[in-house]
Amino acid sequence: MNETELIRKKEEADAVILAHYYVPEEVQKIADYVGDSFYLAKVASGTDKKTIVFCGVRFMGESAKILNPGRRVLLPDDKADCPMAHMATAEQITRMRNEVEDLAVVCYINSSAYLKSMVDVCVTSSNAVKIVRALPNKNILFIPDENLGRFVQGQVPEKNFYFSGGYCPVHARLSASEFVRQIEAHPEAKVVAHPECRAEVLAHADFIGSTAEIIKYARESEAKEFILGTEPGVLYELKRQCAGKTFYEVTPCCEDMKRVTLEKVEACLTGGGFEVCLEEGLMASARKPLEKMLELG
Ligand code: 13P
Ligand code: SF4
Repeated sequence: MNETELIRKKEEADAVILAHYYVPEEVQKIADYVGDSFYLAKVASGTDKKTIVFCGVRFMGESAKILNPGRRVLLPDDKADCPMAHMATAEQITRMRNEVEDLAVVCYINSSAYLKSMVDVCVTSSNAVKIVRALPNKNILFIPDENLGRFVQGQVPEKNFYFSGGYCPVHARLSASEFVRQIEAHPEAKVVAHPECRAEVLAHADFIGSTAEIIKYARESEAKEFILGTEPGVLYELKRQCAGKTFYEVTPCCEDMKRVTLEKVEACLTGGGFEVCLEEGLMASARKPLEKMLELG
């Protein structure tokens, strides 16, 4: 499909294309909006287009549907799922609610709709610190990402944290020794990392933030070289926004995000794709923590 055809098909379908920074470059290029999880959730909640084609993993499409239930949300690939989204259980939440007083259950947006339906507030990597700090509760159960949770804990030491033990299998594969090797090889480089990396990796970072925050930091920094502790999909935007700067990639690819190919996105505009369908009651329960995130974030 050439560009003119794509625009025509998009208009015929009254569709908007949203893409996360980790999907393949060819998809980022044709998307109407590209961003981190928080930005994309905000765009999805505010669009009046009939159809949202969500180029990312399942929890992103589900969040869009929950926040804007009148829209049809299409996923280009129904197997593109974030493994971490399922790394907490209803039993863990119920047990903690019974055992710990003055508890807020804080849920990373990288989670299933079912988990979201049981929690008090959702967060993304760009607003987790701000939101947790603003909560009135002394005790926090942070699910499912323990690495992000421990990073937030370091920034909000006045609260007690409990974790469910989940992690991103992609960022967790990044080892501190590989980071150190890169730092030794490129002593002038600034080290940037996503808070899904393990604590011993984050200890070496000059800057820790969401994908969008990493891009902003690199663009505004005086430095010319960066060691990149996040998924390499962000390189497309980094190269676009930071001409003349060099990035050393150390993180593996997220295979789920890479399932979202241009062909599958085009299929969404011509009758294909996989519609996100969730039960009304589940959506109503999961909407509250997502809306609270939009309000506090
Ligand atoms: P961001 O919200 O920082 O884009 O992160 C999403 C994600 O899945 C990181 O692995
Ligand atoms: Fe999930 Fe990790 Fe992939 Fe992000 S990079 S979608 S957290 S598996």
